[in-house]
Amino acid sequence: MKEALENLEREALSEIQGAEKKEEFLDIRTRYLGRKGLLTGILRKLKEIPSEDRPAMGDLSNRIKNRISREIEAALELCEAKVRDEGLLRDAIDVTLPGRSVTRGKLHPISQTMKEICAIFGALGFSVMEGPEVELDYYNFEALNIPKDHPARDMQDTFYIAGDTVLRTHTSPVQVRTMEKHRPPVRILSPGKVYRPDSDISHTPMFHQVEGLLVDRGISFGDLKGVLGYFLRDIFGDNRKVRFRPSFFPFTEPSAEVDIECVICGGEGCRICGQSGWLEILGCGMVDPAVYLNVGYDPEEYTGFAFGLGVERIAMLKYGITDIRLFFENDKRFLDQF
Ligand code: FA5
Ligand code: MG
Repeated sequence: MKEALENLEREALSEIQGAEKKEEFLDIRTRYLGRKGLLTGILRKLKEIPSEDRPAMGDLSNRIKNRISREIEAALELCEAKVRDEGLLRDAIDVTLPGRSVTRGKLHPISQTMKEICAIFGALGFSVMEGPEVELDYYNFEALNIPKDHPARDMQDTFYIAGDTVLRTHTSPVQVRTMEKHRPPVRILSPGKVYRPDSDISHTPMFHQVEGLLVDRGISFGDLKGVLGYFLRDIFGDNRKVRFRPSFFPFTEPSAEVDIECVICGGEGCRICGQSGWLEILGCGMVDPAVYLNVGYDPEEYTGFAFGLGVERIAMLKYGITDIRLFFENDKRFLDQF
């Protein structure tokens, strides 16, 4: 029996040596130490040996059982450690990988252009005033010397809301609202949205203007040209061709519009500039005495100039955009370029 036990021990240990996987060790344990296992099989014969030998055999079998048990436990522990290590290796964090980039929101190109315009005039001492987008007919038209049924209303197609309320067609009503509240000198800038039922490659039904107004004693058309010339050089550089073209607005006299050489065709004439080679970016002029009378200024004492810039047009020329509608389609691929 002693021999049988020792053989069993040897075989078990050599099997443990040869095994690798957790399942194999569990199988060895069941086969040798299980209730119907080989060790139990040998111990069944315990009653066949002389009773004085039994305690020694019992001892031996316990020692063998413990030994095999320990070896298997140790092997199982190694197995688990190995699995753990493999997992750690597999899931390891590679600290040298580049991080995930944070996508940051940014200003719309029109907002960027508007900020840039305001910064240039801000440096010249203009301060920002805002006015309502839903405006009274009085401020949008009448106080600006455009009476009801006057043909000049046709210059700016209008969205009417109800009765005497309109969506403002330009930022010029802020001139009137400002002059009603403040005595000269005034030097203001008013950026904002305006609305007209217009739509093609250089017109959208909603667009942005920046209004400027400067009134004081002794202001001349020369001041207007000086200020606008400074602005245009600052925003477009020295080399872009600019022209002042005589024009008409009921609220300025004399009036002018400013055109910039079309960037798209370089002045050759194209779809964007309507084959003229020029793109109109602003209207301007000396404030008409009729407007001063409406706000209680003395036209004999004060003179001044006003201008209204088209922000989208300036952005188009700055960035070479060939269709104004791109600004409002919200295509991320377009917007990401700015
Ligand atoms: C005016 O709106 C006058 N209030 C400007 C003004 C202010 C004149 C102060 C005198 C004194 P006009 O309608 O030309 O003028 O528009 C001014 C600019 O807005 C245009 O030069 C053009 O650049 C831009 N603009 C006009 N309509 C649209 C449109 N539908 N879409 C985009 N830009 C436009
Ligand atoms: Mg115009």
